Amino acid sequence: MPAEPASSPGPSSRHAGRVAIYPGSFDPLTNGHVDIITRGLGVFDRIIVAILVNRDKSPVFSADERIAMTREVFGGEGRVEVDTFDGLLVDYARRRGAHVIVRGLRAISDFEYEFQMALMNQRLMPDLETVFMMPAEAYTYTSSRLIREVFALGGSIDGLVPAAVLARLREKRAAGLLRP
Ligand code: PNS
Repeated sequence: MPAEPASSPGPSSRHAGRVAIYPGSFDPLTNGHVDIITRGLGVFDRIIVAILVNRDKSPVFSADERIAMTREVFGGEGRVEVDTFDGLLVDYARRRGAHVIVRGLRAISDFEYEFQMALMNQRLMPDLETVFMMPAEAYTYTSSRLIREVFALGGSIDGLVPAAVLARLREKRAAGLLRP
């Protein structure tokens, strides 16, 4: 295919510095999320980890805590940006000039929900692509919710969350703020 002239605003301008948004609740960040972000860095130039701030939900970790934990984990990686968003994901993607959403797909059970979201987002923003990535097998059965529950009830979550997250989970549990 012939190269486009540098000044052309053709389709390839969309790919200049491939940026992907990785949206989610991240309550808290797990090693499964870390794995997807790391895999994403192998495909995209930059990943924006976009933490949903949903005023109707009461997460265990505040937005500030979730930002801090994620930045602690990816502090040395300049290609990972941590941000928050509320409202529609497509509006956030437009504001950020991104055309790719990355989502992790763990099991068939994730598929229906992810399929619905991807197609609804595509309807709302036709030039938005959702790219699914499979985490390492070791993380296919974990979720933030399950990790919170197991840890709240005294079970081991060794190897399932980064050290920075484990430390904060311990603080929450000690303060009685971690409910199963
Ligand atoms: O980690 P989660 O909770 O599975 O992430 C879900 C998330 C944040 C990606 C989804 O709830 C979302 O995009 N919410 C923003 C509101 C929105 O755009 N809703 C329509 C999606 S089709």
